Amino acid sequence: MSEQGYTPIPPGAIIPGSLPKFKIYILSEQGRYVLWAAEGNRVSEEQLAKLAASRHKEVFLDLDEELRYEEYLETHLGNILENQAPSDEQKAAMFSRVSANVVKNAVETSLGLGAMDEKAMGRTQAMVKNALIFIAQSKSLEALTAMIGHDYKTYEHAAKVLWFTTAFLKENTPVMEQIQPGYQAFDAYQRMESLRQCGVGALLHDIGKAFVPQEILNKEGPLNAIEWEVMKRHPLNGLAMLLDSALPPFVLKAVLQHHEDFHGGGYPMGLEGLASSTLARVLRIIDCFDAMTSRRPYKDPVSPLKAMQIMVGMPPDKKTGEGRAYEERDKGMRHCFDEDLLGKFIVFLGSMKLHG
Ligand SMILES: [Fe+2]
Repeated sequence: MSEQGYTPIPPGAIIPGSLPKFKIYILSEQGRYVLWAAEGNRVSEEQLAKLAASRHKEVFLDLDEELRYEEYLETHLGNILENQAPSDEQKAAMFSRVSANVVKNAVETSLGLGAMDEKAMGRTQAMVKNALIFIAQSKSLEALTAMIGHDYKTYEHAAKVLWFTTAFLKENTPVMEQIQPGYQAFDAYQRMESLRQCGVGALLHDIGKAFVPQEILNKEGPLNAIEWEVMKRHPLNGLAMLLDSALPPFVLKAVLQHHEDFHGGGYPMGLEGLASSTLARVLRIIDCFDAMTSRRPYKDPVSPLKAMQIMVGMPPDKKTGEGRAYEERDKGMRHCFDEDLLGKFIVFLGSMKLHG
């Protein structure tokens, strides 16, 4: 038994016939953790069915073996997402965990090299493929909305930008046509490939932050002039890191341009209007939406509705005062976005069952 204790995991994460390299426990009625499956042992379908029929709604993992569990999740993610046993919320949570780890690994391994490591790129591509399979499932969007309002963590943020971007683009063929001319005439496989490339861009849009010191990334107050200059380099750093990868130019452009503002004043080049690419303009919206609706140590999350109101430039509610705290900081935010795309994104959000 570990010093630290145990953590619950959904039994649906365990794929029948697989050989988890970690021990699995159940909690007895006396409150003791009892070994249910030893590491490296095959977990049979019957064993899992018996568990499902019992009172145990969750199984437990030794915290010391969490890393092995995460490796297992990543290896089996495709099967887990297709498995009927976990709820959609559980799938979304497991998915978030895997994708956050994949991005974290991509950033960490790329740091020393100054470029995206080939193996990390392989993991990223495989993960995005799973993301697309997941969002093709009917209940997946509802499950993903359950992640709105969570803490803002860099890698989870990247995962959420991936989901929103691919789910939004999948529903908006004319936008995809702008990103990848000819998309409308593509067959199912080619469409999937295009969406996958957009997903990789969404997941890695901030990879250049690997070179921004943690003190700047995590600073709660406003950045000083020098810190701001360092921060503003992250799109260019991201491009440099991905230049040698096999990503198509529209993905590289999106990484470079995701902080350009539609009405000017963005960085790194100060492009205006349609001068920045369509995918970059989509990322500008979704990146901002997720940042606003996430919880940070110094601010509560804004509801999706409120975030939308701020993004389109609506004044705070005079009666309730809601939104007043954000008014100053967010003033003028509407100049950042392509109104046409923002309108489409709002319609897309309207089609999801949003909480709050
Ligand atoms: Fe960024």
